[in-house]
Amino acid sequence: AEGYDMTMLKGLDDVDVLLDDDAVTVSDVFLGHGHFGVVRKGALKTADGRVCSVAVKSLRDRPSGRDLDEFLREILLMQKVGKHPNIVSMIGCCLDANRRCMLVVEYCQLGDLQTYLRKVSIKSWYANDFYVGRTDPSELTAVSDSKRVELLQDVSGPPPMVFNNCYLYHGDENVFLTVDDLLRFASQAANGMMFLESNRVVHRDLAARNVLLSDHRTIKICDFGLSRDVYEQNLYQKSNRGDPLPVKWMALESLKYQLYTTQSDVWSFGVLLWEIMMLGGSPYPTISSSRIYEVLCSGYRMPRPTLCCYSLYEVILACWHSNPANRPKFGAIKDAIDSIRENQC
Ligand code: ADE
Repeated sequence: AEGYDMTMLKGLDDVDVLLDDDAVTVSDVFLGHGHFGVVRKGALKTADGRVCSVAVKSLRDRPSGRDLDEFLREILLMQKVGKHPNIVSMIGCCLDANRRCMLVVEYCQLGDLQTYLRKVSIKSWYANDFYVGRTDPSELTAVSDSKRVELLQDVSGPPPMVFNNCYLYHGDENVFLTVDDLLRFASQAANGMMFLESNRVVHRDLAARNVLLSDHRTIKICDFGLSRDVYEQNLYQKSNRGDPLPVKWMALESLKYQLYTTQSDVWSFGVLLWEIMMLGGSPYPTISSSRIYEVLCSGYRMPRPTLCCYSLYEVILACWHSNPANRPKFGAIKDAIDSIRENQC
């Protein structure tokens, strides 16, 4: 265990990220699984005596050498990348009672975007029906009526304007959302990715489950730069922890050549846009992961979600261009989303 502490802290020696021993109290509140440990809620005492919530990542017991390497890499990367409003930023590192290193990052009160969006229902102005957003219209659960409406998945192509008659309601939060709120999430996510790109960081696992919402519903991208080794050794696919398989977020060249670049992140961003407009739906629900590659090669792309206007769908399709060089840059994606927002208001 001693050697392990030293490994963890090497490289962090001359950087100002070590928090005081008593600065952080970790609670039992479980926030999620990392690739190599758990994330819990904690409390941070700041220099001026205030207390704020933080998220604390720790390694599992008896970590492997690779776990340690990845954890250290994540810490160093977060540190190098620095702060941005749409990125989960590092607060520092501290040692637990067993003198093991923990990574302290900012806390995002509203949790991950996928879970958040799945709690959004669509309500029609004209009927008192609530529908819970899901991938396939046949899976739409009518909360107050058995009448089924193909609200989420565009099948025959009715213009999205019909959704002016509908509104989105977040049950837990008791707030109404608008399609513009969804577009704002998308724009902020693109902004975070522009920042990662400018820092030459390739995320490799961009998906709604890895996007968090802080208070005021600000998007924060998390878990960046973690998973390269995992992918190279093809272990993530074999994961039996029940995680969604990332193959449905992966670009063609990542599937074929394990090639990851900012342009493959752009492909994943297209899937993220689709998830947002599907209110947290699962991509390619009827296609098994093992068939995704051939299906994409044959030219298939997911259809336009009903909440997604035609211009945004064009952006999504451009993200899924089979030639990475023909996909838009994050800057252009953000501009396109922002101009759609302007034109819709
Ligand atoms: N789950 C994983 N990381 C988190 C964070 N920073 N805030 C809230 N929930 C999380």
